[in-house]
Amino acid sequence: MNIVLFGPPGAGKGTQAEIICGRLNIPSISTGAVLREAIKNSTPTGLLAKGYMDKGDLVPDSVVTAIIKERLTKPDCAGGYILDGFPRTLPQAKYLEEMGITIDVVLSLEVSDEEIIERLSQRRLCEDCGAPYSLKYGPPKDTSRCDKCGGRLVARQDDMPEVVASRLKTYHSQTEVLIDYYREIGILKTIKGQKEIKDTTSLVFKALGIT
Ligand code: AP5
Repeated sequence: MNIVLFGPPGAGKGTQAEIICGRLNIPSISTGAVLREAIKNSTPTGLLAKGYMDKGDLVPDSVVTAIIKERLTKPDCAGGYILDGFPRTLPQAKYLEEMGITIDVVLSLEVSDEEIIERLSQRRLCEDCGAPYSLKYGPPKDTSRCDKCGGRLVARQDDMPEVVASRLKTYHSQTEVLIDYYREIGILKTIKGQKEIKDTTSLVFKALGIT
């Protein structure tokens, strides 16, 4: 099954993607995570992307489509995958079609801007393995260390309030249009984001027809 996890920044795409891929045993592909890794390694793509990401803007379509094209040819994608944060523009959605890719379902996570601002102020990531935590909703045992690998927990660069505001603006002006696009195609399923991660997961599993 090829799944798109769609939604505003901080809606819980990465959190749910990790849970679904554990359940269905398919890989999750996050363009944001690939770009952050490129920044960490100071690759040409990373150096280019950083300027956009620090401001809360979208990275150019040509850059992210190249990432997706390369990743989807890997053998682990043969049995299906989750796209977390791709597509985010109409040209990106069209690009998937041009590649001959069939998306089975688009899960659109709905969370209000107010809730997102609150969530992202509480988010921490492991510097080493990238595991996400919420200091409020899913806290680690030690607020400064990763439960999984003991790495240091840090706030994401683009979770500063002014960047979050810009990311939300970008979402509403450039990405939200895809909701109507996928609704018209008939593959959109809307999930109301819940206060508890496990409650959102129940709705996601129901939408996917799994238990
Ligand atoms: P990306 O890394 O994809 O960021 P994003 O879409 O802004 O989403 P986030 O990762 O911030 O949030 P999420 O929805 O995964 O939520 P999470 O599960 O972490 O992209 C970063 C940047 O890269 C973009 O701004 C852009 O510049 C660039 N980029 C990436 N893809 C691109 C593309 N296709 N085209 C162009 N540019 C691109 O949850 C957030 C927090 O909430 C966590 O702390 C979590 O624990 C908590 N939480 C989750 N669910 C719940 C719940 N139900 N209740 C309470 N708390 C919850």
